[in-house]
Amino acid sequence: MQVIHTIAELRSALGHHAQRGFVPTMGNLHDGHLALVRQARELVGPAGAVVASIFVNRLQFAPHEDFDTYPRTLERDCELLKGAGCDLVFAPSEQELYPEPQGYKLLPPPELADILEGHFRPGFFTGVCTVVHKLFNIVQPTLAVFGKKDYQQLMVIRRMVAQMALPIAIHGGETRRNEQGLALSSRNGYLSEAEKAEALRLSRTLKALIARWQAGERDLAQLEADAMQALRDAGWAPDYVTLRRQHDLGPAEHGQPLVALAAARLGKTRLIDNLELPAA
Ligand code: PAJ
Repeated sequence: MQVIHTIAELRSALGHHAQRGFVPTMGNLHDGHLALVRQARELVGPAGAVVASIFVNRLQFAPHEDFDTYPRTLERDCELLKGAGCDLVFAPSEQELYPEPQGYKLLPPPELADILEGHFRPGFFTGVCTVVHKLFNIVQPTLAVFGKKDYQQLMVIRRMVAQMALPIAIHGGETRRNEQGLALSSRNGYLSEAEKAEALRLSRTLKALIARWQAGERDLAQLEADAMQALRDAGWAPDYVTLRRQHDLGPAEHGQPLVALAAARLGKTRLIDNLELPAA
């Protein structure tokens, strides 16, 4: 496995590989990331190249967010990537990826990008789309794998690739969880032991909402309000708990594939999670 820091070196290392599977990350890797790398390996086959990028993208952080404290663990990440079947790690410096302020940006449509995460993190998906589009131009992958853990991100990237006619197949990877059901996340490292136990409540709250919907309750506003209140009662500050259509995250309607999504702060840590409903 090669670790590469410049665009020029990456391009020359990739030159002869026709099949390229790409997994963009911000590092501090856990088994969720590694599962995406293994999936990319399966998809491109033994002759293809698997590329993972590690870059904490300033553009997608608001000034009050955790850009400065986001964990940077390159050496350990590279060890893990090697074990997962990665061929090339692209870990550019900020100077390499953004040698001048990134004035050209990719602006996703508000109906996809200004709801849910985008509502609570204005500009987040512009930052994500801009860096992912740029990384796609650098790596020129034939396929890329994104986690369903960031459900809206996966949807926004799928739409970007479709609308911009990028020749890249986008694959979704299932969310990896610990034994208790907590979705793996680099930000879990911010949690105290007590918070880690409490953090399970987020997926349990989603399960409870889903159970009520499946039992035939259809007052969505009430279901969502109850779920938010359950989190508040346990000391959380929820941004949203909601049931949506999988396809475009529009309002849930009976008979369509649905997904329950939540974002909430526990202490200083903001966590997100989601669960797809089995088809009705
Ligand atoms: P990051 O949070 O590092 O996540 C990188 C990829 O890993 C994303 O596709 C994310 O959905 C996936 N992932 C995270 N936790 C997961 C889990 N528990 N199970 C499965 N997949 C998981 O998402 C980003 O970085 C950035 O926004 C990025 C796309 C790299 C652009 O900067």
